[in-house]
Parts: sequence; C-alpha cells; structure tokens
Amino acid sequence: MRTRRHLEVWVAVGAVLAAAVSQAGELEAARGAALLEPFKAELQRALRSGLEQGPVEAIAACRDRAPEISMSLSTDGVRLGRSSHRLRNPDNAPPDWVQPILDAYVASPTDRAPTTVSLSANRSGYVEPILLQAACLTCHGEVLAPAVAARIDELYPEDRAVGFGVGDLRGVFWVAFPSSD
Ligand code: HEC
Repeated sequence: MRTRRHLEVWVAVGAVLAAAVSQAGELEAARGAALLEPFKAELQRALRSGLEQGPVEAIAACRDRAPEISMSLSTDGVRLGRSSHRLRNPDNAPPDWVQPILDAYVASPTDRAPTTVSLSANRSGYVEPILLQAACLTCHGEVLAPAVAARIDELYPEDRAVGFGVGDLRGVFWVAFPSSD
C-alpha cells in the first residue's frame, strides 16, 4: 500500500511538473512568435515596396533592408534572423543552435510546427519554418526572368535558393531571447 501511494504521489508530481514545463514552453513560444512579428512585417513591407519598382529593384531591397531590419530589432538581448538549408546569402548561415532544428525540418516534411528550446539557464530560442508562397517564385522559383536571374547571379554567385515550389520549406525564422522567470 505504502509503495503504491508513493507511486501515486510521484505520478501526480510528475504530471504537475510536466504541465509546468509545457506551460513554460508555451509561454516562450508565444514570446518568440511575438518577437518575430515585427521582423516578418518589416520584411514583407520592404519586399512589397521593392516589387512596386520591379523585381530587379526588389532584389536590392531584400539585400539592403533585410540585414538592417534584423539588426534594428536585435536589442535588449534579443537576436533574430532568417536562415535556410539552401542559402542565397552565406551571411544568413544559421547560428549553431538553429542548425539541428533546421536539419530536423528538412528531414521530416510533415513537421512544420514551431520549435522552442532552452539555450542556457536564462536564454530561450524559438524557430519557425518558412514555407514558400507564390509571391516568392519571382526570385526563388524554378524559372526566373532572365534579368532577375542575371542580377541574382551577379550579387550571389553561390546562390542555392532557386528551384523552390509553393509550399516547399524555404528556411526558418529564428530568435534567441532572455527567458521569462
Ligand atoms: C525580388 C526578389 C525576391 C523575392 C520576391 C523574394 N526573395 Fe527571398 N531573397 C531575395 C534575396 C536577394 C535574398 C538575399 C538577401 C540577403 O542578401 O540577405 C533573399 C533571401 C531570403 C531568405 C534568407 C536566406 C537566404 O537564402 O539567404 C529567405 C528565408 C527568403 N529569402 C525567403 C523568401 C520568401 C519566403 C519569399 C516570399 C514571401 C521571398 N523570399 C521572396 C530575393 C527575393
């Protein structure tokens, strides 16, 4: 009886702990998602206003604005960016902690849920897959307009970010931030 009651107590403690851990995970996931929101919105705005000038001009907008935006939002211990398993710009290589998460998304095409990880006692990381949309095909699709292809070749001689279809994994958004208490 004694052993059995102990067991029940431990099962209950285990359940409470598991709930606390998953709640903490949910909290960190919500914070990660919220931190990425302005990054995504700004990138979209930059792309849209670039495309109003034309696709070749929009390439410059992506090139100049994307790093500026991620830098301007990387404050107060927050670091964020985007990366890919097929990079256009090698400067967008994933941080060490993002690499295995990116690999896991590449390896399991049905897993597209965001990932939250603990990076240290007081830092958390959050990663979201980026899926290709129709609007991205102009510069990341199978067939590019010759002027677009030429400009990309010129700026990114090692480009690996073409040949995608709608719905393909294009890469990830990532953010590292101080954990909540
Ligand atoms: C006008 C052309 C253009 C369009 C349209 C475009 N991109 Fe890009 N994309 C680029 C360029 C140029 C870069 C490299 C930017 C840099 O130098 O950091 C890039 C980089 C990226 C990266 C960073 C990783 C890497 O390979 O360097 C991701 C992720 C990405 N694009 C996703 C998308 C998605 C998703 C869409 C559609 C919503 C999209 N792009 C639409 C031109 C474009």
